[in-house]
Amino acid sequence: MLYVVHKPFGAVQVALCDGLIQGFQLGVVTPMPIFHHCTVEITVSVILYSIIPFAAMPDKLYHSSSWLIRPHIVEQLIRLDANENPFGPSPRVAQALAEFAGYHLYPDYRPLREAVARYASVSPQQVVLGNGSDELIDLLMRLCLEPDQGVILCPPAFSMYRFFADVGRHPVWEVPRGDDFSLDMPGIEAAVRESDGRARLLFLTSPGNPDGQVIPQDTVRRLLRLPLMVAVDEAYIEFGGPGVLPLLAEYENLIIIRTFSKWAGLAGLRLGYALLAPELADGLERIRAPYNVNAAALVAALATLEDLETVQANVARLVAERERLQAALAAIPWLEPIPSQANFILCRLRGRSGQEVAEALAGQGILVRSFSEPRLEGYIRISVGRPKQNEALLRVLWEL
Ligand SMILES: Cc1ncc(COP(=O)(O)O)c(C=O)c1O
Repeated sequence: MLYVVHKPFGAVQVALCDGLIQGFQLGVVTPMPIFHHCTVEITVSVILYSIIPFAAMPDKLYHSSSWLIRPHIVEQLIRLDANENPFGPSPRVAQALAEFAGYHLYPDYRPLREAVARYASVSPQQVVLGNGSDELIDLLMRLCLEPDQGVILCPPAFSMYRFFADVGRHPVWEVPRGDDFSLDMPGIEAAVRESDGRARLLFLTSPGNPDGQVIPQDTVRRLLRLPLMVAVDEAYIEFGGPGVLPLLAEYENLIIIRTFSKWAGLAGLRLGYALLAPELADGLERIRAPYNVNAAALVAALATLEDLETVQANVARLVAERERLQAALAAIPWLEPIPSQANFILCRLRGRSGQEVAEALAGQGILVRSFSEPRLEGYIRISVGRPKQNEALLRVLWEL
């Protein structure tokens, strides 16, 4: 049986038994028969159930029977849609993972916490490790927000900020960025004022996703003087900068979020970290799950930090390739690449939609990112690939 139940506080919940919810409507109170063999009533929040599950690759591309791409290309897809590092990790990572003898034990994070602290030039008490930086975004909201408090976002923004605010049922104040993707400073200041102290956490991304632009340090400084916490997501900082690390000693309300997914090529192993005041770090340490980062990520990250020369050489290759790709894209008459400090390039399209171009490229086995939000309809975001992948992309773009 499926029940839709009004809760006292006005929200609606669905009771579902042993199967999929089919065709329910908000506000319907009548029990809807679906299955009759269940013994336990399970309730889920309708609000959360309306979130679309995340898939790393859209279903229609994943299934090789898709109309969109020819099956023989599936194996050779050129994936320039998720800002991964096409050069992969240090070769020492595979070696360290093969030689590690402690997979049967729960991991001890202290050596990595210390190594990350050395890499970032902070004290270990200012470092918190997470299962990807995604997890740290979630933990920060849990630590800093009471149920009626929320976040300020500056769209277009990385989707996980909104996602975790929604999952935590926190209010969101959106202050859209300008046409050139610059922050609307008076708008942010007004949102803080008008929220009556309920907007507690501001998320910024620098270099920004999807635009690739760095937020000037003076701008961050001005925002740090507002009465709220400021999280600066530096997922792409190794590809451009400068970052805001020098401000950490000055401002206790600054939190920097970083990741090993991009520069270190470890997206699949899920390791992020936060740099923040020791008191806040202590708070995050208290609420994270005991073994949130797995032993393989730990081993891989330590091997990476012991082989910085190789990894940084890959970052330099990627940056050089980004500049080359940027110039080549600018030569295509209907494409306008926006200068980027990250490992991707956002392109404004003249006379075409992002979805149309992304689908045409997918038909040739090349994935780039298009966006559903109306403001980005006329854009695609291209992750910088290896030279041969970028050549293939350019060839197809010239033919479209
Ligand atoms: C701005 C930004 N922050 C965080 C992440 C997530 O990184 P992680 O793989 O560490 O969860 C991404 C991934 O694309 C990102 O673009």
